[in-house]
Amino acid sequence: MATLGQIIFYSMLVIIVILSFFIILFFSLAFSSKTHRSSNVISSSTKPVANLGEDQLLSCYLNTQTSQDKVTVTWKKTDLTGLVYFYQNGAPDLTNQASQFSGRTQLFPEAVVTGNVSLLLRNVRRSDEGKYTCSISSSKGGGEVSIQLRTAAFSAPTFTFSNGTLSAEAVRWFPKPSVSWLNQTENILNGSSTFTENSEGIFSIFSTLLSVQVSDTYSVRIENNLVMALSEATISGSDVSWRTYFTFSAASFRPVGSLYVIIMTSFLWIYYVTL
Ligand SMILES: *[C@@H]1O[C@H](CO)[C@@H](O)[C@H](O)[C@H]1NC(C)=O
Ligand SMILES: *[C@@H]1O[C@H](CO)[C@@H](O)[C@H](O)[C@H]1NC(C)=O
Ligand SMILES: *[C@@H]1O[C@H](CO)[C@@H](O)[C@H](O)[C@H]1NC(C)=O
Ligand SMILES: *[C@@H]1O[C@H](CO)[C@@H](O)[C@H](O)[C@H]1NC(C)=O
Repeated sequence: MATLGQIIFYSMLVIIVILSFFIILFFSLAFSSKTHRSSNVISSSTKPVANLGEDQLLSCYLNTQTSQDKVTVTWKKTDLTGLVYFYQNGAPDLTNQASQFSGRTQLFPEAVVTGNVSLLLRNVRRSDEGKYTCSISSSKGGGEVSIQLRTAAFSAPTFTFSNGTLSAEAVRWFPKPSVSWLNQTENILNGSSTFTENSEGIFSIFSTLLSVQVSDTYSVRIENNLVMALSEATISGSDVSWRTYFTFSAASFRPVGSLYVIIMTSFLWIYYVTL
């Protein structure tokens, strides 16, 4: 039995949700067009997640896909004394490069002449996390773009099957992930996992699922706040075949999310005041 007050309350709620959706749409369009207009420089990935110990490309290029003269490139990192990389007159100039990047960075000269100044960072460390700024100036325009680099450790699991038990082993994970087993209808199954931490704080995972059915497919989801690895393993006879997909957190929903909460709160406040 809905009272009149409840009906009014729920209709207001619906109106609030619809209005806030349009306000968010408006703000996100306004912000995105502003950032595009001020710069010709873009990145195909502004929030990459690097795998510790491996190489990571920081993408940065001019959106005019033509050959460039007199390209000057500056790669900086927030709160760093010295530069990450500097390139001018057709050659790198690393006299002001910060020592933590010494010998670990490179641009691709054949790409630079087309306006692609993506930076290869080798053997990524935890301390490489942070905000990078790539600035380009050239005869055909310039600008800058910011890239937020995050670091994690992640590796695909390998599977074995014996005596009705399916086992998954993944050797490098950080931060410590959670592990879940699912069947084909996405029901959570009762697996058990053990985590072993090495001296560098990296976890290795061994997880088992008992009494599995031959010729069925099972999924394992290993995830932390940055990376999710979803593996599908199919048992045929005594063999297991599998494939793994990685998904990286975009972490770009938080500002929009808090904007949404602010708008919701202010609407509710207006609603209470007008009553
Ligand atoms: C820029 O160059 C790098 C290195 O050659 C390449 O991996 C990347 O795909 C290029 N990006 C674009 C947008 O062309
Ligand atoms: C196979 O599994 C069953 C129960 O799951 C257990 O009783 C048996 O000892 C196992 N055999 C081997 C060789 O591990
Ligand atoms: C998955 O598990 C649930 C619960 O244990 C079960 O009801 C369902 O039939 C299973 N699906 C498959 C495809 O085995
Ligand atoms: C999962 O396993 C635990 C311990 O092995 C057991 O106590 C529990 O009943 C199991 N749950 C299901 C749903 O099978």
